[in-house]
Amino acid sequence: MTVRLAVDALSGGYGKVRVVRDINVTVESGEVLAILGPNGAGKTTTLLTIAGMLARHAGTVTVDGQEMGSGDPVETNHNGVVLVPDDRALFQPLTVAEHLELACQKTKRNPRELLDVFPTLEKRWGVAAGNLSGGEQQMLALARGLAQNPRVLLIDEMSMGLAPIIVEHLLPVVRQAAAEHGAAVVLVEQHVSLALEVADHAMVIAHGEVVLHATAEELRKNEGALDAAYLG
Ligand SMILES: Nc1ncnc2c1ncn2[C@@H]1O[C@H](COP(=O)(O)OP(=O)(O)OP(=O)(O)O)[C@@H](O)[C@H]1O
Ligand SMILES: [Mg+2]
Repeated sequence: MTVRLAVDALSGGYGKVRVVRDINVTVESGEVLAILGPNGAGKTTTLLTIAGMLARHAGTVTVDGQEMGSGDPVETNHNGVVLVPDDRALFQPLTVAEHLELACQKTKRNPRELLDVFPTLEKRWGVAAGNLSGGEQQMLALARGLAQNPRVLLIDEMSMGLAPIIVEHLLPVVRQAAAEHGAAVVLVEQHVSLALEVADHAMVIAHGEVVLHATAEELRKNEGALDAAYLG
């Protein structure tokens, strides 16, 4: 496997206010990294900085050996980095079909291919995003991300507001995206046990710093280390 995403000595925040410090991590093609940590730790800030939505204060973000410009979400997206944000960022009046047609423009994929992954969306094809349930909206947000054939897929709080049974259904899709398309997946998740089921490795961010980084297997066996990292 090859290193797809390399984050080196990354620091960032809002304006001059530094929120995350010295984040170092690599994710290989086909791998899933979970980012865990308490509320306000800096998980979303980390994803936004990797995606170029926020300018970096320091450090580098490299995709397949190519360094991304700081605070340049368009260039970063052109290089295959796709963010599924925590608010899902759907266009309320646009239908499922319209969202997926737009997402497929660049990749020239057939939008209906995404129905193989999310068959539930077939009967909602002509329905506006604003009229979908929370779970359906998350499926659409993920489908739109996958439609872009991401090299790096960043997913923030997929489980937010969803019943665990729906999350259990969505997580394997993430695994599949990594396995079938060789994407490097970074998953920010509050449901620690669910995240560790699907991830290869995980890191805990607390107060803007990485306080623990280990394989998911090690963390599943050692809940004490996780609890300690959360409590800082
Ligand atoms: N737009 C903003 N402007 C200034 N500070 C912000 C902004 N967004 C977040 N912050 C601050 O950055 C810190 C980290 O926030 P962030 O959203 O990255 O945390 P998080 O780990 O994703 O938390 P949660 O689990 O609640 O989603 C917090 O102290 C927060 O107040
Ligand atoms: Mg967050």
